[in-house]
Amino acid sequence: MNILVTGGAGFIGSHTLIELYKAGHTAVVVDNLYNSSEESLRRVAQLTGIDHIPFVKADIRDRETLEQIFANNHLDACIHFAGLKAVGESVTKPLEYYENNMNGTFVLLDVMRRHNCKNIIFSSSATVYGDPAIIPITEDCPKGQCTNPYGQTKSMLEQVMMDLQQSDTEWNVVLLRYFNPIGAHPSGRIGENPNGIPNNLMPYITQVAVGKRERLGVFGNDYPTHDGTGVRDYIHVVDLAMAHVAALQVVERRQGLAIYNIGTGHGYSVLDVVNTFMRVNNIIIPYDIKPRRAGDIATCYCNPKKAERELGWKARYGLDDMCRDSWNWQKNNPDGY
Ligand code: NAD
Ligand code: UFG
Repeated sequence: MNILVTGGAGFIGSHTLIELYKAGHTAVVVDNLYNSSEESLRRVAQLTGIDHIPFVKADIRDRETLEQIFANNHLDACIHFAGLKAVGESVTKPLEYYENNMNGTFVLLDVMRRHNCKNIIFSSSATVYGDPAIIPITEDCPKGQCTNPYGQTKSMLEQVMMDLQQSDTEWNVVLLRYFNPIGAHPSGRIGENPNGIPNNLMPYITQVAVGKRERLGVFGNDYPTHDGTGVRDYIHVVDLAMAHVAALQVVERRQGLAIYNIGTGHGYSVLDVVNTFMRVNNIIIPYDIKPRRAGDIATCYCNPKKAERELGWKARYGLDDMCRDSWNWQKNNPDGY
């Protein structure tokens, strides 16, 4: 298939491009490079052995340019990564988050419909479960109250796409609820490249390891978990990338609406991750226990069996691989791209 990849220069998008090409698909990337660099696309091309990845630098809210992209390319489906994703920033800039994520998706869906491309795979998040009612989380676990505008956009956009699919059953909509993506391509050539102080655990750890930050703050050690620190379902970004390729089967089978949790099914605490990182990479990560971070929950991990049953997809990498590959990327690219 020829696939429009919005946000394809970003962390998950760039890894997904490699797996798409490996599986015999082709892609057109649209990205405004707000949180990424075109260098990631150059490296994806090198890693996949192709000349270049077709790329349009544009905002998905720019309807005219999107129209042109669809007019100039035969596109079978869209994998929609483009969006703002910093939870804390979304609390201080709610309008920017709602405007970018909601409006961007509205324009995209409308242009897709006009060009009769009615197949979309959407980057959703475990955040839609709020403080989950069931652990491990299955897809039929009720959605919960999101504590921030970022999470609200994911939850609302899921609803928008479900309503659209119900109104017109020619649409195939796949909602992938990612758990916590970390790791990097094993080559160490592409990876996560956050601007400023990292919000997420693994980029913070790797920046401490490379000497950019002094100490990690561990946000809370009084949660009801095995060691008191927060438990999450970390998933290697290459496994996550492969889940997108697997999700294209929903389009091929004309399945309509499908929702999948994309995680490993294992919960690891903050200290499990820190200790594994230190052991695998033989580096000391100094840390201090800090107060809980507002909006955090104690435990979040999934039951990923539905994706295995219906898509034949299963995470292959473990926490050791994730820690090794995150460090391999950071040490080879201390300043990112
Ligand atoms: P990222 O920031 O690396 O990639 C997103 C890309 O979208 C960036 O390249 C950015 O420049 C681009 N973009 C943003 N707004 C745009 C717009 N209006 N027009 C065109 N391009 C735009 O983030 P990522 O980690 O690769 O995440 C990809 C998607 O997955 C996002 O939708 C994110 O919310 C979702 N997600 C991420 C995580 C995570 O922990 N990384 C977890 C759950 C869901
Ligand atoms: N943590 C620390 N110190 C840090 C950063 C994080 O102790 O410097 C802890 C957090 O308190 C939490 C765990 O590490 O217990 C993971 O935190 P992250 O910020 O890495 O990830 P979250 O689970 O909070 O959120 C991530 C994404 C969201 C997404 C959510 C669910 O950032 O976009 O997973 O998919 F919505």
